[in-house]
This record gives sequence, structure tokens and C-alpha cells, in this order.
Amino acid sequence: MDLLRKFRSRFSGTEAAFPGAPANFSSDKKRLIDRAFSGESGLVQSFADLGGVWGVHGAYTFYTLHRFDIRRAVLADCWFSETVMQRAPEHSHLELVQGDFRDSQVRDRIGRVDALFLFDVLLHQVHPDWNEVLEMYAGTSDRFLIFNQQYIESERTVRLLDLGEREYFENVPHDPDNPAYRDLFERLDLPEPGLDRTWRESPSIWQWGITDLDLREKMSSLGFKETWHENCGQFMNLKRFENHAFLFERRSGAGSER
Ligand SMILES: C[S@@+](CC[C@H](N)C(=O)[O-])C[C@H]1O[C@@H](n2cnc3c(N)ncnc32)[C@H](O)[C@@H]1O
Repeated sequence: MDLLRKFRSRFSGTEAAFPGAPANFSSDKKRLIDRAFSGESGLVQSFADLGGVWGVHGAYTFYTLHRFDIRRAVLADCWFSETVMQRAPEHSHLELVQGDFRDSQVRDRIGRVDALFLFDVLLHQVHPDWNEVLEMYAGTSDRFLIFNQQYIESERTVRLLDLGEREYFENVPHDPDNPAYRDLFERLDLPEPGLDRTWRESPSIWQWGITDLDLREKMSSLGFKETWHENCGQFMNLKRFENHAFLFERRSGAGSER
């Protein structure tokens, strides 16, 4: 049995990650975390995973806690799944922060950390927009791990809703019949049920096609250097989007600068 487990863990990214890792655990994101926590840029002992829940139940938080010597971890999201609630008490250094991380009070509860994870979340952020969220958090960490579906069709970022309904649905991984997206264009200025925001401002839907140029310019303007980047290939069936992994660090003499 042990042999079987060892064999699996050598050849399957999921088994190797941590006990209970979900089947969709991304080895691309794991590589980004491993790189950031490798010690090349100094000791990384605290982190916050912004929006780490949907579809993966905090998997990148739990992986990092399992794999590295962590003194403080924060998983922040507007909701927590049952799996997260069951698993969190196993880790005394883990804090769950519930709320909208665009809110400065939520940011202040998260506090200062050695590394900040923004995995599949930037393209959803509006008002404050994705670039304003980066500004908001620039003072909280010197190491940003960004994994985002990046727009490769143009040099500059596009607001997907501005493309109009037909093109919008050609550029998001959701069918117009998906319950969250049905009649979206008719209810853009109506409030999202139970929330103090309209659908137009909702992080629940795809909002942006962010380009590498704009992301790099923003991080550079905030004093960060890109120390690692990986193109992880086309995202699903969307020809204009690729998964890109970035490590941005703010320190003197950062490794392989661009
Ligand atoms: C697409 S999922 C990404 C999950 C995970 N980070 C991953 O890489 O698979 C986006 C997650 O971010 C959360 N989220 C997005 N915007 C948020 C915000 N402004 N405040 C709090 N949570 C947010 C959602 O609730 C959801 O759990």
C-alpha cells in the first residue's frame, strides 16, 4: 500500500501536493509557490491567499502550510466552503478572513505578509479595479504571486463587458445559459442579490482581459521587479486567454530581472 502511494505521489501532481488535495489542483500554481518559497529571495514565513476558495477549497493555502515552515497564513474570501471550515482548525497558524478583499478594512485585517497569492482573481476585480487592488495591497507585501488568465489579443487591457454581449460570451468560459450568466446584459445595473453592488461591479463574473504589458507596468510602478514568469498555455477553449504565472518581488538585487 505504501509503495503504491509512493508511486502515485511521484507521478501524480495531486498526490504529491498534500493529503486531500483536489483533483483539479494545479501543478502550474504549485510551481509558482515552490519558486517563491524556495528561499532564493529570503525567508518566506507568512502569506495571504486572496480568493482561495471556489473550486479548490483553499488548496493552495493548505499545500503551502503542508510543504513549508509557515508562521502565519491567511485565507481570505467572501465565503468559505465546508471543506475549508473542517480543514482550517488543523492549522493553528491559519486565519480565515471573510469579506470582500477590495474593502480596506478586510485588507487591514489581513495585515502584512511575506507573500500574497492572487490566483485567478485579478480579472474579476472592478471598483476598485484590478490595478487599484494591486495598489491597495502594495504596502502589505514585498512578494506578489500572480496567476491570471491573461488577454493576448491586444497590447492593452480590455473591459470585457465593453465588447458587447456576443463578443463577451466568446471571451469568457461560461455559456450564456449558465445560471450566473443568464440575461447578464439585461441586469448589469441591478444589484447582485443581497449585496451592495451591481452586477457590473461584481467579482462573481469575468470582467477584464488584462494584458501582460499593463500588469508589468503596474507592478513596476509600485516598485516591484518581475523575478519569474511562466506561460502555462491557453486557458480552456479561449483563444485570447492564456494562463500566466508571475512572481513579482520588491527588494534590492532581485534575481533574474527582466
Ligand atoms: C475563480 S476562483 C479562484 C480560486 C482559487 N484562487 C484558484 O486559483 O483556483 C475566485 C475566488 O475568489 C473569490 N473572490 C473573488 N473576488 C473576491 C473579492 N473581491 N473578495 C473576496 N473574495 C473574492 C471568490 O469567492 C472565489 O472563491
